[in-house]
Amino acid sequence: MDKIKILIADDIKETRDVIKKILSLQKENIEVVGEADNGEEVLKLIPKIKPDVVLMDINMPILNGLEATERITTEYPYVMVIIMSVQAESEYLKKAMFHGAKEYIIKPFNYDSLIETIETTYQKYKTRQINRVEGIRQTRTTKIISFFSSKGGVGKSVLSVNTALVLSKAENKKVLLIDLDLQFGDIGMLVNQYNQKNIFNAVEDGQIDSYEKIKSCLYECNGNLDILFAPPKPETAEYIVKENIENIINLTKNQYDVIIVDTGINFNDITLYILDVSEKICLVSTLDIIALKNTKLGLEVMESLGYDNQKVKLVINRFNSKYGISKNEVEDAFKNGIFAVIPDEEKIVINSINKGEPFCNNNYQKLKIGKAIEMMCQSLI
Ligand SMILES: Nc1ncnc2c1ncn2[C@@H]1O[C@H](COP(=O)(O)OP(=O)(O)OP(=O)(O)O)[C@@H](O)[C@H]1O
Ligand SMILES: [Mg+2]
Repeated sequence: MDKIKILIADDIKETRDVIKKILSLQKENIEVVGEADNGEEVLKLIPKIKPDVVLMDINMPILNGLEATERITTEYPYVMVIIMSVQAESEYLKKAMFHGAKEYIIKPFNYDSLIETIETTYQKYKTRQINRVEGIRQTRTTKIISFFSSKGGVGKSVLSVNTALVLSKAENKKVLLIDLDLQFGDIGMLVNQYNQKNIFNAVEDGQIDSYEKIKSCLYECNGNLDILFAPPKPETAEYIVKENIENIINLTKNQYDVIIVDTGINFNDITLYILDVSEKICLVSTLDIIALKNTKLGLEVMESLGYDNQKVKLVINRFNSKYGISKNEVEDAFKNGIFAVIPDEEKIVINSINKGEPFCNNNYQKLKIGKAIEMMCQSLI
């Protein structure tokens, strides 16, 4: 069991010595880690010695025990303050409790009552702190990042898969990748998985009412990355409606750090819903005039939807300086600037697609394109 670490704050040295003596008799689970003779000193010592409990006198010079308690409550909320006061200070005592002291003990006190007060206060608040941390962990804030383009074939799916892999591996994030290109989704092919359960299985018998149900339709790509595939046949797509996607997002949200969504190229109601709930939209374009023109139109639609440049990020894929359009020219044309540039690496990309093994699955740091994806991931989170 961890020892309860105590900081004693009292301006009279003899009092501190007596308390130390009392506490040192109880060697097993209590340890005095520091002493202070005023409130200012207490605040300086806390970050250095990280006590669990401060035994705090009220009347001290420079900064009294009441003000020190108030500051501890806001600056170091995990530190428990136990006020030590004489009976005559009962008015102050109320104030101290109001300012966040967890308990008080009336001087002069004996060995038993001091130990008991420390132990019960520590147990009570430590359990609450653990529960709170656990609660925060369970309601993690999930980032939804979508890949969208207003022209097909620019690399949304390749970038979605490889981004999801890098986030799950290098950044150690728990990631869900959803293929929302419901008609022609090909994330399954990119990771060499066929005939796996997919989003249609999650919705086919009506209600999606739990994460467990969705989980049973996910493909576990690695310990940190789950994938929800698109249906294998385009005609199945029409059975999937916006409400299904809302349910899926709401039920998976607190289970992952990041949800990556690969979208289709239409602004249909499903895509609009996903774009709305995305913290970031990677608007993918290549460097040809048609793609750039459509990207510009796409950006205008997003502006009209009220999305700002914190949300919409331009990603140039297949960049090659030989293609006749420079980065500067693109930056001039798009006032938000370029968020990420992914190089054109035909051999690596086509090879990885044909093998069904994304190039970021292993040793991607050695590749220029892997490094570029990693840099994009760092900016994304
Ligand atoms: N950085 C790259 N370098 C070279 N080739 C690439 C790169 N990114 C994508 N490609 C090629 O572009 C093609 C289209 O990629 P991908 O399927 O990811 O695009 P998409 O935007 O998802 O297309 P769709 O609109 O059909 O869903 C792939 O076949 C791949 O070979
Ligand atoms: Mg695609």
